Amino acid sequence: MNGFIFDLDGVIVDTAKYHYQAWKQLANNIGIEFSLEQNEQLKGVSRVESLKKILHWGQKTISDDEFTVLMTEKNNHYLSFIETMGEDEILPDVSKVLNYLSSKNQKIALGSASKNAVGILDKVNLTRFFDAIVDGNQVTHAKPDPEVFLNAAEQMHMQPEDCIVFEDAVAGIQAANAAKMVSVGIGDASILHEADYVFKDFTEMSLDFIDKLINPKK
Ligand code: G6P
Ligand code: MG
Repeated sequence: MNGFIFDLDGVIVDTAKYHYQAWKQLANNIGIEFSLEQNEQLKGVSRVESLKKILHWGQKTISDDEFTVLMTEKNNHYLSFIETMGEDEILPDVSKVLNYLSSKNQKIALGSASKNAVGILDKVNLTRFFDAIVDGNQVTHAKPDPEVFLNAAEQMHMQPEDCIVFEDAVAGIQAANAAKMVSVGIGDASILHEADYVFKDFTEMSLDFIDKLINPKK
């Protein structure tokens, strides 16, 4: 038996578009431009660090109190998008892979930087697949630190070397590698070149490949 750890944003659901809209409105409100390219750089980055980066790009300094207010505003706006999410927003073939892994009695965990992970999994009706959920509320060191994935392995009672991580962010691949887990990038191979394997999305991943992850010695 192996442990399969899924990142959430960009792997299970495409929430980047909602983060983008919420960050863009916030940035524009305080007179900072915010582009899609900049949004790319916030993938896998925690809420606090994301706001710090935006303020840095806009060369703006604000008080700690204002910082807290802006964080809350952004999250409330983001949550208003999440509110309307449903199963139709699960990325292609994610459910197929989850079903297959659970039919093969594999352990499944979530390893996400998001503090909204539990709510989102619930919205898209996937909570039942997960033996462990580790999210932004439980970790102190953000990816590329391996903490989130090591914590997930521990909660599944699995050794790190028996775990496989699915990730769309460079920092997430680095975290999986640092944890000595097998890293599978979901996205662009030229960006995720540090991963052991890369697929554009789960539709490109064969069940044969998953069988090899389950049973590498066969
Ligand atoms: C994921 C996303 C990031 C997001 C972070 C925190 O890693 O890729 O874009 O900033 O989670 O999400 P949260 O829901 O806690 O604001
Ligand atoms: Mg991600």
